[in-house]
Amino acid sequence: MQGMGEARDDLRQATTAAHRRLDENPLVAGLAAGTLSEADYARMLSAYLAFYQAWEEQMKANFPDLVELAGPERFLKTHWLLKDLTALGSPADPRISGSPATPSNRARAAGSLYVVEGSTIGGMHLSRSGKLPAHAHRFFEGYGAETMPKWKALIELLEALLPDEESRREAAEEASATFAWFQHRLAQIASACFRGAED
Ligand code: HEM
Repeated sequence: MQGMGEARDDLRQATTAAHRRLDENPLVAGLAAGTLSEADYARMLSAYLAFYQAWEEQMKANFPDLVELAGPERFLKTHWLLKDLTALGSPADPRISGSPATPSNRARAAGSLYVVEGSTIGGMHLSRSGKLPAHAHRFFEGYGAETMPKWKALIELLEALLPDEESRREAAEEASATFAWFQHRLAQIASACFRGAED
């Protein structure tokens, strides 16, 4: 789905390589292949929890207009993660906590929102693959059949919010920083899970 608009094109271009690198992380690759143990899956979800818990709070506190415009239902994924972690009998692992930094303006907040919402596309594919633990995949199920319509609506909003080069540059920087957060955190966890497999 290319050519949805300049903002999306810039964001996508800035982060395609980062997405590819993330796909190579042993946890992400194991998740896609259906080879991840439940314990490692739970560790991965607790890293997601550290991100979403902080990020959703920050967005609601600092960018309430953006939350309203995008739809507050996009900012409730912490509940899904807690549900899955509870089903796995695995409370969040405090050793892998660590919050992302708050975006410093609305264009940057929009850039992080692009990444968070884009990742629901991956989640949709994963949950359809049947390779996730059946009792604990609420988070990756995301919006289910609504995923692509919601993605299209989000892109339309981003095009309106990022009308000029400067705002698109800031958003792209923040999107890259958001990918970097996941890259770093998941690499840390992977090296603990698969000792020596990841630097
Ligand atoms: C196993 C995990 C994942 C799989 C299988 C996956 C797969 C995909 C697929 C198939 C797309 C659609 C690509 C296209 O339209 O050409 C996509 C888009 C996207 N994913 Fe992932 N993904 C995964 C994890 C993630 C994660 C962890 C993030 C970020 C934290 C992420 C961020 C994005 C973004 C931002 C897009 C939108 C790119 C665009 O503008 O089209 N994904 N993903």
